[in-house]
Order: sequence, then C-alpha cells, then structure tokens
Amino acid sequence: MKVLLVNASPRREGNTYRALCEVSRQLEKHGVESEIVQLGVKPVRSCIACNQCLEKQLGRCVFDDDICNRVSEKMAECDGFIIGSPVYYGQPTGAALSLVQRMFYSAGDLFQNKPAASIAVCRRGGATAAFQTMNMPFMMMNMPVVASQYWNIVYGLQPGESGMDTEGMQTMRTLADNMAFLLKRIHAEGAPAYPDREPWQGMHFIR
Ligand SMILES: Cc1cc2nc3c(=O)[nH]c(=O)nc-3n(C[C@H](O)[C@H](O)[C@H](O)COP(=O)(O)O)c2cc1C
Repeated sequence: MKVLLVNASPRREGNTYRALCEVSRQLEKHGVESEIVQLGVKPVRSCIACNQCLEKQLGRCVFDDDICNRVSEKMAECDGFIIGSPVYYGQPTGAALSLVQRMFYSAGDLFQNKPAASIAVCRRGGATAAFQTMNMPFMMMNMPVVASQYWNIVYGLQPGESGMDTEGMQTMRTLADNMAFLLKRIHAEGAPAYPDREPWQGMHFIR
C-alpha cells in the first residue's frame, strides 16, 4: 500500500515538508509506503473550464505543461492521498487549489474511494479555514476523509520551526496511524467491495 503526499509549498524543505515527513515516517512504521511530491516554484495553471478532458474522455488535463498530470498519474499506483499546504491569507496556496481542481476534474477516477487528508501549516492563524477548504473536494469524490486527534494543523514560520510544535507533530503521527489503519481495513481479505454507484443525476436548476 502506498500514500501520495503533496507538498504545496514553494519552499521545498519548509514547515509543510517537515509535517509531511512526520506522516511519511509513521506510515513506514506501519509498513505503508509513501512518496512526497514537491510542487516547488513552477506555476501550476488553474482550470479554465475548457471541458476538453471530459468531452474527449482523456482521463488527464489537456494542458500538459505543468506538474498536474504527473501527479495524477502517480495516483494510479497509490491507495491514499494527502495534501499539505502553508496557509496564505487564511487559504491554501493557489498552487494547491489549482492542482486539486484540475486533477479531480480531469482524472477523478484515480482518486475515487481512496482515503484522503489535508494538512494546513501556518505561523499563527487561518489554518482551520485553509484546512476546511482543502477537505471540501474530497467529499465530492467519495474519498473517506481521514481524521486525527485534532485538526491537521502545524505551527511554524521559518523553515524547520514546525518540528518544535510537538502537538502538531503528534497530530501528524496520529493521522498516519489512522490512514494506515483504514487502508489495511479497506484492503483486508474479505473486506467488502466499494459500493456500486448510481449513474450521476446532474440537476442544474435551469430550465
Ligand atoms: C504570502 C504569505 C501569506 C501568509 N499568510 C499567513 C496567514 O494568513 N496566516 C499565518 O499564520 N501564516 C501565514 N503565512 C506564513 C506561512 O504560513 C508560514 O511561514 C508557513 O510555515 C510556511 O510553510 P512552508 O515553510 O512549508 O512554506 C504566510 C506566508 C506567506 C508567504
């Protein structure tokens, strides 16, 4: 079993990375593999609602000039998904939002039913709003949202400071414990199959 972790901070080894490393180490203790993908500093386009992905059933975004499709492809061999983002003005980074919106719209089948979580990293405030924002898409994708002992929030300003947030780090480890537990349950021999889905009944309130 493998979990994909996305660091949506432009700082490769900042506080978000530190939090994700804590999750990754704890997953390893449970025998669950993980990989941290860095969004880095290159732009991540936002969705332009061209609908090419859906109309042509591409299973990927028609724009292939950034990291979006690379991350989606990785989900083909991953069983869980975690995105960590710094808090910018009480929100996740623009890159975090653009990435998730385009991946879920164009390659949603790779995410359906897979347990997911988000992590918000901040200096002082706005983390709960950012955390809630990042969790919203999971619940439209039949992705069970993995809980922890507290909201997945870690504090720190300068790179590395988040390591001093001992409760935050414990929350990361508990998140990993719960993710590993859930994955093992889902993939256990004799576990029930995912529910069959009815065909989607889109209701646009327009006549
Ligand atoms: C543009 C910008 C906006 C920020 N806004 C907030 C904020 O609203 N609340 C907060 O507590 N910290 C804010 N911060 C601080 C970062 O969230 C904090 O430094 C975090 O540890 C960065 O994570 P990283 O090291 O993974 O990049 C902001 C930082 C930047 C660059």
